[in-house]
Amino acid sequence: MKTLVTYFSQTGKTKKVAEAIYESVEGEKELKELSEVESLDGYDLSFIGFPIIAFGPAKEGKEFLEQKAAGKKVALFITHAAPEDQEGIEAWLDRCREAAASAELVGFFDCQGELSEAIANALLKSDNPMMKSFGERRSETLGQPDETRLQRARDFAREVMAKLGG
Ligand SMILES: Cc1cc2nc3c(=O)[nH]c(=O)nc-3n(C[C@H](O)[C@H](O)[C@H](O)COP(=O)(O)O)c2cc1C
Repeated sequence: MKTLVTYFSQTGKTKKVAEAIYESVEGEKELKELSEVESLDGYDLSFIGFPIIAFGPAKEGKEFLEQKAAGKKVALFITHAAPEDQEGIEAWLDRCREAAASAELVGFFDCQGELSEAIANALLKSDNPMMKSFGERRSETLGQPDETRLQRARDFAREVMAKLGG
């Protein structure tokens, strides 16, 4: 079984989750940035990760899934600055699942990721009140994903592998 772990990450938070997942994958495996992946051909399973940007999948992740994931076994991992129990988050995550509609989705994981200072400062200037409130709540995201969340990501990867008999 050959497994790919690939991610788009602007500030390194989704990358941390990718590395945790990669640690847990058994067998032949590769870890790559999304921009380095031409095709999912040749992989039996691909873990694909990206952040939530403006209430939905990062454009890079959405386009990759739409263009390259059709018919492939895919497990998604998503980071977002909002806490996991934030009201309305399911709609953002559903937009990520929709982007993977042509793939065979075999797993889904999401967790909080720190909002970088530069991005928080930019969001504070936004006209969108929800974006602005994200900027104001940066301190609640500091240090995420923490070890507990990374452990959850490792467990997630093991569950997906077990499900596929890998
Ligand atoms: C332009 C922009 C918009 C964002 N919009 C959201 C959002 O709608 N909801 C949210 O929870 N986080 C939002 N975030 C925060 C990121 O999803 C979060 O910090 C993520 O962990 C960053 O991952 P990365 O370091 O891998 O890029 C946004 C970040 C940026 C840069």
